[in-house]
This record gives sequence, C-alpha cells and structure tokens, in this order.
Amino acid sequence: MPFCAPSSPAGCVAVSLWRARVFVLVCLAGCEGRQSALAPAGRGADRLVDLFLWMSVGALLIWIVVLALTAYGAFVDKAHSARAAERLVIAGGVVVPTAVLAVLLTYGLSMLPSFVEAAPEGSLKVHVVGHQWWWRVRYFPKDGAPFDLANEIQLPVGAPVEIELESRDVIHSFWIPSLGGKMDMIPGRKTRLVLEPTKAGVFRGVCAEYCGDSHAFMAFSVIVLEPEAFDRWIAEQSRPALEPSDELARRGHELFLENGCGACHAVRGTRADGVIGPDLTHVGGRSSLGAGLLGTRREDFRRFIAETHRLKPGVQMPAFGMLPEADLEAIARYLEGLE
Ligand code: CUA
Repeated sequence: MPFCAPSSPAGCVAVSLWRARVFVLVCLAGCEGRQSALAPAGRGADRLVDLFLWMSVGALLIWIVVLALTAYGAFVDKAHSARAAERLVIAGGVVVPTAVLAVLLTYGLSMLPSFVEAAPEGSLKVHVVGHQWWWRVRYFPKDGAPFDLANEIQLPVGAPVEIELESRDVIHSFWIPSLGGKMDMIPGRKTRLVLEPTKAGVFRGVCAEYCGDSHAFMAFSVIVLEPEAFDRWIAEQSRPALEPSDELARRGHELFLENGCGACHAVRGTRADGVIGPDLTHVGGRSSLGAGLLGTRREDFRRFIAETHRLKPGVQMPAFGMLPEADLEAIARYLEGLE
C-alpha cells in the first residue's frame, strides 16, 4: 500500500503535514489527565517535569549540532588536517559527552533525597503492600486503630506524606505520575517514597514493573482532599461496616459468609476476618473494584464474582460463576451497600 495517496508531490507534503499535526495533537493529549507526569499535582512531580524539559531541550540542541556537522561533512568538500580531525573526535566523543552527562547526573541526583528521605516528624504515614494484582493500603489514625483498604489512597493536600512500600510476592513498582517519582516494592525489604500533593483532585496510580498475568490490571485511585474532608474520610473509614439495609442485602451477607468469602476477605464488624484478599469493609464506597478494573455498582460486583478469571487472568480468587443468579445478585447487593 502506498504511504501517500495523492498523485502530486505537493499533495503528498500536505498529507504528511496533516499526519504530523494529528500525531502531535495525539501526543499532546497524553500530557493531560489524571495519570500524566507532565501535569504535575505534587511537589516532586513538578521537579521531574523541569528535569524532563531541561533534558528535552538539551537533547534537541545536541541533535541540531549533530545534524549541522553531518550536513557539513556531506556537503562541504574541504580537506582537514589529521590533527584537526583528531581534535574534533576528542571534543565530540569525550569532552562534550562527559560534561553533559556529569551535569545531568548531578542535577538528577540532587532531587533524589526529597523523595526517599523520611518525611518531617508527625507527617502522615501510609503503608502500602503490593500483591499480585492489587494494593493493600493501611492507615494509622492518631486516635484509633489502624485500618486497611484496597486499591485506593486518599491524601490531604499541602502536607508531606511518607509512603512505606513492601511486596508479598514479586517486585512491583508504585507510581502516581501526577504526584511524584516511582519506587520499587521489593519482597523482604521496605522502601519509602515521600509525596506532597499540591492540588486537590482525583489521580491514577499504577504498577510500573511487569509482575505477571494481570500486571496491566493493577491500578489504584488517588484522591487528594482538603484537610478537613480528609479528616472526615479517616473518621468514616475507621468505622465498622454498615449493616445491610434491606432484605436482599441481608441475604447477600448470609451468602457471603456461607460461601466462605470471609476466609479471604475482612468486613470489619462481621465474622468475615480473612487477611488474604482485600479488606471489603467500605468497598461499596470506593472508586473501583479489582484494582481499577470495574466500578462499584451492583452489576460490577456480580460480574467480578462470577467471571473473576475472565476479567482478571491469573488472580488467586476463585470464580463463583456456579452460584445461582439470585445468590450472585444478593451478594452483589450486599457489597454495593458497604459504603
Ligand atoms: Cu504489580 Cu506490575
């Protein structure tokens, strides 16, 4: 197939320019949104954007110089002495690269401490454990017992937060592009990342290290709130689960326990106290199910329970598609109501 359909060269150039414009627009569209490192909403992320811009401008300048030298070599027919050629090779091949890399390394390393040094005394601490393929998130409220949630992190705006990272199976990598750099989660080791959100909003975090079948389905929501709203959220999350509000939800709660869901999942305030899978105490109030895979409406719960492996290959949870439709509906109603 010809690359360019128009018959005249001018038509070809016009089509190429149009394609280039579309390409640039598509690329720029990726610079916005809740998962873009180029739309910073945190201290650290803004410094990374600076680093990216400096490196891009530097690379562009070097590219122009190299192109100019190439054109000079190709089109200017002039003999140079062996001495001049040797000087050019030493300058272009040793001196300039060494100087450029030394400056970039120093500039890049100077940012590192702000991400990995401990946050100031009294800062919020959040513990995150990576599992195949979800995130256990633990908070330690000042007045109250620690509590867990999954695949969602809420943070107050304008304050540093220290995120302690661990993994229980393979290496994962914790990354919230809008808020800061990424950090590996290594089994048997604790790593740390300090973030400081500067804008309230909803962002998206991802696992940035290939970690198995459902690596691509290992996302999480990051919700940055004003401090008062954050305190209210902590108080709400500290409470045990809501009682089922209607007959269908009550039946769903019974079925949840009868089918052994509580062996892997905890719902605080009930007999379900499993620690293998995500804590479901307030699962109905979260922004996603299955680590960014589905929403949290009744239909989403029903689908995830019945078609677990089709939706999320390799996941440990067995699918419960053999349950009668009415039972699935009841369990989904119960979970949806756990706000
Ligand atoms: Cu966890 Cu990729």
